[in-house]
Amino acid sequence: MIGSGYMGKVHAAAFRAAASVFDLSATPSLEMLADIDEETARIAGQALGASRTTGDWRALVADPDIDLVDITAPNLLHEEMALAAIEAGKNVYCEKPLAPTSAGSKRMVDAAEAAGIRTMTGFNYLKNPITALAKEIIEGGEIGEVFAMRGWHFEDYMLDPETLVNPWRFDPHSGDGVTADLGSHIISMARYLVGPIESVTADRDIVIPQRELDGEMRPVEVADQFRALIRFEDGAKGTLEASWIAPGRKMAIGVEVWGTAGSLYFDFERLNELHLYTTDQPRGREGFKLILAGPAHQDFASFTPAPGHQLSFNDLKVIEVRDLVEGMMATNPPPWPDFREAWEVQRVVDAILRSSADRGWATIADS
Ligand SMILES: NC(=O)c1ccc[n+]([C@@H]2O[C@H](COP(=O)([O-])OP(=O)(O)OC[C@H]3O[C@@H](n4cnc5c(N)ncnc54)[C@H](O)[C@@H]3O)[C@@H](O)[C@H]2O)c1
Repeated sequence: MIGSGYMGKVHAAAFRAAASVFDLSATPSLEMLADIDEETARIAGQALGASRTTGDWRALVADPDIDLVDITAPNLLHEEMALAAIEAGKNVYCEKPLAPTSAGSKRMVDAAEAAGIRTMTGFNYLKNPITALAKEIIEGGEIGEVFAMRGWHFEDYMLDPETLVNPWRFDPHSGDGVTADLGSHIISMARYLVGPIESVTADRDIVIPQRELDGEMRPVEVADQFRALIRFEDGAKGTLEASWIAPGRKMAIGVEVWGTAGSLYFDFERLNELHLYTTDQPRGREGFKLILAGPAHQDFASFTPAPGHQLSFNDLKVIEVRDLVEGMMATNPPPWPDFREAWEVQRVVDAILRSSADRGWATIADS
């Protein structure tokens, strides 16, 4: 594993938990942890249970005892690290956004596919049993033919201009702020539940023009929020929004899907709940039904047999790691979402930026 910040810790915990929650085909072990320098790696490696540590990620990538390289470093480093890992013949698990641009993401896809390397990207919200339930309801036709979708991802962790969470997020070379960060999550959700996106027209902006970086107030170049109208390839329409300065919103990934026979919605500030409406209800008794995640839903029972006992964010990573480990077995289908899917997401991010700059519609095929 490369990186031991927020995601590094979540990944390490997920690798440990996956082997006890699920019956895995292979038991993962954290063979080596790389971080920015030897001391950081040593301290984090001790806490996270790494067998060995290094201050040089290239040594990790080259190490013959490593089968899988897990990249939890800042966005800007993903491409270089992944390409080196692929060249060394290692399978790669990489956090989202895959790379700051669609072009960079495509280079990673091409390298992995040419080398026959299996890959996975950390779109963990797709692994929520409630997301799987929503997909099952949509694909089973329970809400009829889908014609519209609204999606949003709102948090407020960047609201205070003087307290920066991860200064690297403000380097424009790392991706366009919230568009790359939270935008990639909600785009992946839209693609998963409704399908490929054909075009967008979007407006992204910087609301807080200066932030404290390296001890002084500096101009900001990356977006705090965006709004986009989207057209899906199958003709459905939708909106996508993201903000990291939405006051009071802590982890609001919300989706509402409308079909000819009903609708569903969820908001992952309550990530064990799905609301379902169908048009076949008796007159005067119509209403949304609240469904709580339980053992009848995908993967829930592996954690607990007790309905309504609530999975957490970290559990979604455990499910993701199960899919990763199983997908690394040569006899199994590869894991998903892979680098190709993450590139498709990044193409939409790029189209949002193009559209916002040009004040018009942008086609995803041009990204
Ligand atoms: N899937 C999710 O829900 C989710 C949530 C948060 C972050 N992320 C993604 O995870 C990645 C990391 O985000 P984070 O919040 O953990 O960041 P972070 O800043 O907390 O951690 C980054 C880690 O990478 C290390 N690092 C930096 N440069 C390095 C180098 N040259 N060599 C080795 N290590 C280096 C840092 O020292 C740190 O340990 C980002 O791509 C981010 O978008 C995903």
